[in-house]
Amino acid sequence: MAIEPTELIWLDGELIPWDQANVHLSVHALHYGSSVFEGVRAYDIAGTPAIFCLDAHIRRLFNSCKVYRMEIGYTPEALQQACVETVKVNGLTSAYVRPLVFRGSGTIGVDPRPCPVHVAVMTIFLGRYLGPEAIEQGVDVCVSSWGRMAHNTFPANAKIGGQYINSQLMKMEAVENGYAEAIAMDANGFVSEGSGENLFMVREGVVVTPPLASSILKGITRQCVMTLAADLGYTVKEEFITREMLYTADELFFTGTAAEVTPIRSVDRIAIGAGHRGPVTEQLQTAFFDIVSGAAEDRHGWLTPVN
Ligand SMILES: Cc1ncc(COP(=O)(O)O)c(C=O)c1O
Repeated sequence: MAIEPTELIWLDGELIPWDQANVHLSVHALHYGSSVFEGVRAYDIAGTPAIFCLDAHIRRLFNSCKVYRMEIGYTPEALQQACVETVKVNGLTSAYVRPLVFRGSGTIGVDPRPCPVHVAVMTIFLGRYLGPEAIEQGVDVCVSSWGRMAHNTFPANAKIGGQYINSQLMKMEAVENGYAEAIAMDANGFVSEGSGENLFMVREGVVVTPPLASSILKGITRQCVMTLAADLGYTVKEEFITREMLYTADELFFTGTAAEVTPIRSVDRIAIGAGHRGPVTEQLQTAFFDIVSGAAEDRHGWLTPVN
């Protein structure tokens, strides 16, 4: 997971060397979490990169910025182009693309509006987020003692840097206790999501995922997997999930740009289903990975070729 520098970073309209992409200690984002970001993957399709759901990610970035009153000085199309260009100039065939909008220097006050808004695009290499074996073997997770934010504290559906302090608490606790990841409950005690992933449950052949009302990020991979599940003929439902429903599920899995589609084999040391990847999860993984590897046709128009 260590960052390996690439050559160039796009910052405020210019491609600059990695080592020169620095900020001053006084930037507002560093003190108060006032940054908005996206995580996007570019997949290697026959030796050339193609960016997955770029349009949806940039749309979500603009929506997050709107909530926090951050004016991006570029059009969505220009920012999409900046992502494409940054992958291209760094010669990457697959990449994790990190568009980042942040409040710069201007005030020590909490009100961020006197601070200029900067926009950057960083590209790095990213392997399997939850470990190399996770995709096949699944991960062991716990229910976090930290809850997800209530809707009137932070907007879960705006991807703001400061909110990830909650994710950091969840993740640290999980790893310290020997788990790969944590699942948090929402403020009403229903299952919400992982520290950086959405959650799915399979029960009696039905694919279920918590609704937006459970303080989740409206994941783009979540949306794609719901589409793929429907394509395969499954009934897909957004429903409140309780903690004990996790333990008794036939299958559980995470979705996310970083985690892709990762099976969950245990929760709080209780085996889920047979204790390994279930058949529906595997079928959905195949459907997903076939598209992002180019083995299946991109029938939903999710891929933006870089060249
Ligand atoms: C808290 C949280 N939930 C869910 C997701 C999954 O969202 P997506 O599929 O858009 O990457 C992410 C990753 O961005 C996340 O950080």
